[in-house]
Amino acid sequence: MPSPSPSPSPSTVAVGRAPGRVNLIGEHTDYNGGLCLPFAVDLATTATVRRRDDDRLVMRSREAPAGDEQWTAYVVGVVAELRRLGWDVPGLDVDVTSTVPLGGGLSSSAALECAVATAVAGLLGQALDGATRREVAEACRRAETEHVGAPTGGMDQLAAMLGADGHALLVDFADRDRPQVTPVPLPVSRDGLALLVTDTGVRHVLADGDGGYAQRRRECAAGHPRRLRHVTRENERVRAAVEAIDARAWPRLGDLMTASHGSLRDDYEVSVDRLDVVVDAAIGAGALGSRMTGGGFGGCTITLVAEKRLGVVRDAVDAAYRARDWAAPGHHVVQPGRGAEVLSAVE
Ligand code: GLA
Repeated sequence: MPSPSPSPSPSTVAVGRAPGRVNLIGEHTDYNGGLCLPFAVDLATTATVRRRDDDRLVMRSREAPAGDEQWTAYVVGVVAELRRLGWDVPGLDVDVTSTVPLGGGLSSSAALECAVATAVAGLLGQALDGATRREVAEACRRAETEHVGAPTGGMDQLAAMLGADGHALLVDFADRDRPQVTPVPLPVSRDGLALLVTDTGVRHVLADGDGGYAQRRRECAAGHPRRLRHVTRENERVRAAVEAIDARAWPRLGDLMTASHGSLRDDYEVSVDRLDVVVDAAIGAGALGSRMTGGGFGGCTITLVAEKRLGVVRDAVDAAYRARDWAAPGHHVVQPGRGAEVLSAVE
């Protein structure tokens, strides 16, 4: 169902913000009709959209390297898909800033898409209720798949649009057209634990149609047994992880995360050296669990660690990098945060 028409009091300029995401567990399951458990993080992309008198789309970003215009395809795609929903999107000046590392596995692309869509909703006076947020998430997924050529599965956009403070989202893709989303309270800091994201520094390119991501999708569709073994077991791990979280059985959750990494490394074969080195160093230094997060081939890990061991774990990872002469990785302690929001809309 298309969204209802926007209210008749549109603005001239609006600002939208959408977060990046970490997937706690459940990787490469979304496009396989399975389960995942992402949460929105407190790193975000902000888009300012200003109504133009003509029908042009003029885009600027402070983060994109000079000459790199690939990111603009996401914005063009989002505007086209919102128009397909029946939104009356005018010509726009679009300004983007971001604290989500670009191409770093925290879904900078979904944050960009959802920030632009949210800003446009603010501009048009379009209320963002739960149903509209899902529609926007799906429009953004289509923008990425059809306009950019990255055949992603939908987890990232749902996390960016529906994220809730202090919660992960259990997403069940059994019905691809109507994924079921259940918020799961994730009270790690109450129990003295932290969620540490480590950026390996290796960039991946999902938009590469011949890349590993698209290839894995094809292998699953063709019934490759080892790939599908990962998917079946990963779905079981997500269910077990939700039980562990409900019971606040954190060591059990940690073990499931580490097992997920092993399966992504050995059965799904989407890990790389630096991801494995971070995971091994973190576990070696006493983390409860650690795994790559996102599509793989680079990007970030997520580590569950007692707050009082954070420094030791970070140091161990840095030392493992130094021993190999690799440039130092980045670390961020993240909190499960809220989804996209309109920050301001001015008439
Ligand atoms: C990327 C995609 C998601 C999902 C993950 C792997 O982040 O955008 O849809 O498939 O990889 O779990």
